[in-house]
Amino acid sequence: MTIKFESQKVAYWFFLSAILLFSLQIVYGFIMGFAHMGYDGLHNFIPFNTARAVHTNLLVFWLLLGFMGAAYFIIPEESDRELYSVPLAYIQLVTFLAVGVIALAGYHMNIWEGRKFLEIPRPLDYLVVVNILTFLFNTGMTIWKAPRFSTTGIVLYGGLFSAALLYLPGMITFDHQTLDSYFRWWVVHLWVEGVWELIMGGMLAYLLIKLTGIDREIIEKWLYVIVGITFLSGILGTGHHYYYIGAPKYWLMVGGIFGALEPLAFLAMALWALAMARKGGGSHPNKSALSWSLGCAVMSFVGAGFLGFAHTLPQVNMWTHGTLVTAMHGHLAFWGAYAMIVLGIITYAMPLLTGRKLYESPMEQVSFWMANIGMVAMTAAFAVAGITQVYLERKVGMDFLLVQKELHPHFLGLVLAASLFAVGILAFIIQFFRYGLPVAATKPKPHGSLSGSEALNP
Ligand code: HEM
Ligand code: HEM
Ligand SMILES: [Fe+2]
Repeated sequence: MTIKFESQKVAYWFFLSAILLFSLQIVYGFIMGFAHMGYDGLHNFIPFNTARAVHTNLLVFWLLLGFMGAAYFIIPEESDRELYSVPLAYIQLVTFLAVGVIALAGYHMNIWEGRKFLEIPRPLDYLVVVNILTFLFNTGMTIWKAPRFSTTGIVLYGGLFSAALLYLPGMITFDHQTLDSYFRWWVVHLWVEGVWELIMGGMLAYLLIKLTGIDREIIEKWLYVIVGITFLSGILGTGHHYYYIGAPKYWLMVGGIFGALEPLAFLAMALWALAMARKGGGSHPNKSALSWSLGCAVMSFVGAGFLGFAHTLPQVNMWTHGTLVTAMHGHLAFWGAYAMIVLGIITYAMPLLTGRKLYESPMEQVSFWMANIGMVAMTAAFAVAGITQVYLERKVGMDFLLVQKELHPHFLGLVLAASLFAVGILAFIIQFFRYGLPVAATKPKPHGSLSGSEALNP
């Protein structure tokens, strides 16, 4: 029970980098959590705005590392051949980490662009572009030269490719705030509510094929439906960010309608995953990987679909925009959809990469449940704080900073919940290290069938 292709080992180093940066993201989360309680002792070294930019950029950074690791793991297998170039993959990892670390160090010295999520200075953007092109070239050539191609592999690659394209609108320089904001959403919104959903769908399809034993044809048929709903709602759904930024008025209507339709894609994904798992009968021994996969499908619906809907209508968004209500939704959506799918693929891949079957260890269940209960509780704490903020600041008309003071007690709840969450993630990381280093691949199977019989093989 190991990997089939030697080059899949590359994934291990991407996963390792991802979880280490994830733990650093959590540290910055705590710095902000305490600052919100009134304990801002680090203010002179790491002011709140720096901590916030580092926290959110680390999030995007480790998720991208996780997606890349997943691609290096999945694409050789789906293409039934070794990766095009292993050295290139390592060069790409090291340079990507270097750019990330330089950017994050710069934030601590006030070298940044003050645009939420896109703080990275323009010159470094170009290095990111070269890096991503290298990644797309390497995985693309693997697919191009492959004896077969699968829908799952193509959807995953298509998602990664379009994510790269959509990075570019964020690099245009505007001297008007509205235009800058307008195109910033092409990156931020069209990533998480568009092309990243393809990445998530591709990874989820792969995991379902492997873990449920259901025929690939059935699982992939539904993947097309999900891709369809995603684009139908998500593209014009960008309008839910254009309500009050100075864009034309028709966006109130367009954003309201299409934004409200967006949860359907997440609902479809949740129903799809649950139905497949039920039908499959659960004979795969790696139950933890199935927990993360189904957990991802359900929590993404709750965090992105349900809590996204909660503030997508213009009548609601005019009150909640840019408050802690947004942070409430941002946490559970990112966690459910993208963090959980990355932790899911890692949980699936580790026994194969290292040849060790540790998935029955209670540590895996502890990590899954504590992290999830912790994150739900964090979301609740943000929700209560957010609703209070909207009421005091925007209904009563209290001063912004006075309201922040009123909210201090809510952040005790947040920090407690976050501690539970952090223990769950710590258990995940300990388990990762217990697996040890990757081992050599076993001889690949002869080129062959795409049918469901492959499913229970590894
Ligand atoms: C996994 C998918 C999603 C993720 C990761 C996500 C994450 C986020 C984040 C981080 C923000 C804050 C962005 C910023 O201010 O720069 C945000 C804003 C927003 N999201 Fe989502 N979201 C997702 C899906 C959805 C869906 C499906 C809906 C609608 C049903 C939605 C509705 C909104 C709205 C209306 C805002 C604007 C909030 C404001 O005005 O402050 N999101 N989302
Ligand atoms: C120990 C755990 C964590 C703590 C204590 C924490 C705390 C915070 C705080 C206090 C903020 C700033 C809210 C504000 O603007 O006032 C924030 C922002 C944010 N965090 Fe976390 N966080 C944690 C983990 C995470 C995780 C695991 C994710 C993603 C999976 C995440 C995603 C985000 C996002 C997307 C934002 C920006 C939200 C927005 O646009 O309003 N955080 N976090
Ligand atoms: Fe959006």
